[in-house]
Amino acid sequence: MSKFEILGKNKLYGEIQVLGAKNAAMKMISASVLIQGKVTLENVPDILDIQTIIDILTENGAKISRKEHSLEIDTTNLKERDPNPSLVKKMRGSIVLVGPYLARFGKISFPHPGGCVIGSRPIDIHLKAFRDLGAEIEESDNFYLIKLNKFVSGEIDFRKVSVTATENILMASCVALGTTVITNAAREPEVVDLAHFLNQAGAKISGMGTSTITVTGVKKLHPLKYTVLPDRIEAGTFLTAGVVTDSCLKVASCNPDHLTAFLDVLKKINVELEIGSNYIKILDAKNLGSIDIKTAVYPGLATDLQAPMGLILTQSSGTSRIFETIFENRLGYLHELEKMGAKFKLIDPSQAEIYGPSKLNGAVIQTPDLRAGATLVLAALAAEGKTTILGAEIIDRGYENIEERLRLVGANIKRINR
Ligand code: EPU
Repeated sequence: MSKFEILGKNKLYGEIQVLGAKNAAMKMISASVLIQGKVTLENVPDILDIQTIIDILTENGAKISRKEHSLEIDTTNLKERDPNPSLVKKMRGSIVLVGPYLARFGKISFPHPGGCVIGSRPIDIHLKAFRDLGAEIEESDNFYLIKLNKFVSGEIDFRKVSVTATENILMASCVALGTTVITNAAREPEVVDLAHFLNQAGAKISGMGTSTITVTGVKKLHPLKYTVLPDRIEAGTFLTAGVVTDSCLKVASCNPDHLTAFLDVLKKINVELEIGSNYIKILDAKNLGSIDIKTAVYPGLATDLQAPMGLILTQSSGTSRIFETIFENRLGYLHELEKMGAKFKLIDPSQAEIYGPSKLNGAVIQTPDLRAGATLVLAALAAEGKTTILGAEIIDRGYENIEERLRLVGANIKRINR
């Protein structure tokens, strides 16, 4: 177990680099199951969730090696053996192994995937889509056995937009016979990047980035080298660090086009920004105003940036409202912020009123989940005195060496291993 100790109120300065997107890299590593031969992935963050998916595949015979942010993956000798259930349970993202495994081996057995406790997180949309593709599914004791003997192409219509379900169907159908049309598909940049990765490997996918994606099956995919897109959530997280400490901080190597909704909110509450083609710089964040925000599927305000935005609103003058529409239980971090001095009222599990600005003070707090944990680190940077954040490993799931990177731009943060 490790924890962070942070002494707040330092101004941040200079430039912080955004790394590759966790939620794209993980899917591309999974998609490598579809490719015989060497896949080279550049810009892969060194984080626990990525390591978990690497461990699952390596344990079953894949050869994966890392050199800094570059991964070489070869799944040629991957055994027809189910992924290790205890590793699968570690994170929700492991669900994206199902599509590639069905396409390659025609079957997979796995437990209900774990991950952040931010809602009930069912997988019915995935299961229905696999059934629509011809799969037979047996479920017992929270374990699923899925068999796909004969692939049925056609239309897959999601009842609700789902990022990983869209990705699973993309991966399952790109090497199957026939044409599959996905409607109500997710449009998130990570989904688009996965489709580009697959197309570069020889797949025939069109319409990505819109709500209708068409996949025309090909016989096989070939080896490739691909660079993962920048992590828009990490970019938003570091921007929040600049805003809550009112620092002139440049967030570099990101794609501002993927953060439009987040940046629009910042502008509306009076944050002065300089936006370049691949960077965003905070110029001034002194007089923050209140606002009502609502999360939405892309291109709306990302649920993964709801907690950082909630923190910003504790520093804004007046009453703001948050409506979390994607996950039903993602406001728990407010109780931790309350221990530091934030004021809010929970209207229901997905809506809150925030009363700002409130002075934040150091406290001992617990990381509730990945994005909330990163938010608490940012809150500590803005707080008076020392904050101890327990559960640093949860933050390591999605942010590479966050303490070192924040230290390089002026933060006083250290990790204590117990
Ligand atoms: N949903 C269902 N049934 C399903 C699948 C989803 O009801 O079978 C519901 C979910 O409960 C949720 C909504 O649909 O209410 C959307 O969930 P989605 O399936 O899009 O989420 P996900 O694919 O499990 C990915 C990211 C999340 C991110 C969401 C939304 C990965 C590995 N995870 O999750 O990232 O919040 O999309 O953008 O790609 C994170 O990185 O911290 C994280 C939680």
